[in-house]
Amino acid sequence: MIYEAVLIVIKRLSRLTRTMATEITSQLDHVRRRVSKSHQRRERSRIGQFLTPAPIAHFMAGLFQRDLAEVRILDAGAGVGVLSAAVVEAFISRKGRLRSLEVVAYENDGLVLPYLESALGRCKGACTKAGITFHGETRANDFVAARIPLTEEGLFAGETERFTHAILNPPYKKIEGQSQTRRLLDAAGMEVSNLYAAFVWLAARMLEPGGELVAITPRSFCNGPYFRRFRLALLDMMALQRLHVFESRDKAFSDDNVLQENVILHAVRARRKPKHVTISSSEGSDFRRISVRRVPYEHVVLPHDRDGFIHLALNDQDEDVMHRMRRFGTPLDELGIDVSTGRVVDFRAREHLRLRPQAGTAPLVYPCHFDRGFVRWPAESDRKPNAIVSSEETRSLMVPAGHYVLTKRFSAKEERRRVVAAIYDPQRVRAPFVGFENHLNYFHAGGKGLSPNLAKGLSLYLNSTLLDRYFRLFSGHTQVNATDLRKMRYPTRAQMVRLGRHVNNCMPDQKAIDITLEKVCCTDG
Ligand SMILES: C[S@@+](CC[C@H](N)C(=O)[O-])C[C@H]1O[C@@H](n2cnc3c(N)ncnc32)[C@H](O)[C@@H]1O
Repeated sequence: MIYEAVLIVIKRLSRLTRTMATEITSQLDHVRRRVSKSHQRRERSRIGQFLTPAPIAHFMAGLFQRDLAEVRILDAGAGVGVLSAAVVEAFISRKGRLRSLEVVAYENDGLVLPYLESALGRCKGACTKAGITFHGETRANDFVAARIPLTEEGLFAGETERFTHAILNPPYKKIEGQSQTRRLLDAAGMEVSNLYAAFVWLAARMLEPGGELVAITPRSFCNGPYFRRFRLALLDMMALQRLHVFESRDKAFSDDNVLQENVILHAVRARRKPKHVTISSSEGSDFRRISVRRVPYEHVVLPHDRDGFIHLALNDQDEDVMHRMRRFGTPLDELGIDVSTGRVVDFRAREHLRLRPQAGTAPLVYPCHFDRGFVRWPAESDRKPNAIVSSEETRSLMVPAGHYVLTKRFSAKEERRRVVAAIYDPQRVRAPFVGFENHLNYFHAGGKGLSPNLAKGLSLYLNSTLLDRYFRLFSGHTQVNATDLRKMRYPTRAQMVRLGRHVNNCMPDQKAIDITLEKVCCTDG
């Protein structure tokens, strides 16, 4: 079913911002620019400090729904305090039941702490004026180290402080393998690779039942194996309400040159899942014109998806892609096919690599060998080695000759397609074994090749516009993991073989691929 996308001016939001006092956040926006200039970019990257512009902070604060008399807000990685200030301003202007408001702000960068304290001071002033009791507390601690022992659920139950709201723009930073943070998280069973996911996970655990979370994060947690544990925990603990996507990579934090795809997440601490999730998008932080749609929950997180991928269909075209992809219901393992990452990691196998094929070597295939849907080997240029020494030592890095379908693992940002597939045809490269380099994924049948037409059909399907667009709905980055490919659905074996008959010496052009897919897979259901 196709859902109508509505291009609307968010009346409520603009009304809110018109009537809302925004003095504190406006001042903090100046502070943000000053801090961003005084901190070297390298230092900001090291501590993951990219401060939220005021319009985004207002938008985030406007997502909270409940009207409570007593509010306790958690702001983890608070920076200069713009998010807390935006919530305070929004709640004061709502004129609801609010009587008391408490903010607990964690921030461990000494440079911004004075600004944060002064922001909380100004929040107190604004609340007092509005007849609301305010208590602000700055905790100059490492949020992860401070909170992990307290969130061991059960162990310290009852002692743990609970919040009604959590708002965060957490630090985006890889967690080093040997760090104290890594050890703490591992001990708590929180397997995450980036600090932002640890912050959101901990914050979610600190909410009371019904408590609300709003966070701006990279979109990377929506798919892929690295965020699986986090995603599953989040989807289990929380009920997704809203996901807002910034369509342009560089717009949300444009002053900071952040080239991440960002999303804003609003979720409620509750196990019961909602019927619908609101999905919206905007170019950048101009929220006056945004596209909003309500999507059934099971279209966002597919039922029975053990990896909990989050699909973001932003418009009718995206919804149409989801709808058309539902025709393909065959899991890869039912086809007797698996997909693996190329085993030759070139810098580890350097001593075995040769620029040109010679006696005693086997072909080595890189993405640069892709040529109109097939592997063309050897490559004429000597940019990459063409061969690997074939010996007992290297045999485990290779596979026996056969038809394999290869896909690139990384595509350049400006590349037209994310998923690019090519066929390794043993008739074109005569050798008993072949090595696939680690920048490739390869489809195989139990470590051996596929039947020629199955390989050709699979490759045509992978090269279709439909599949590429579907892939973009759940992947915010340019990497194509074997796990992503393994969990996609495929045409039936019979359909794939029929598709394969349309591929001769080279892959048809894009238009012909798309027409063939429609014809073959629509006519025989
Ligand atoms: C992406 S910035 C966002 C700041 C602020 N929330 C905002 O929206 O402008 C993340 C903040 O987290 C702080 N931070 C980084 N690691 C932290 C940690 N382990 N504990 C507490 N704060 C941390 C950084 O200093 C930085 O100010």
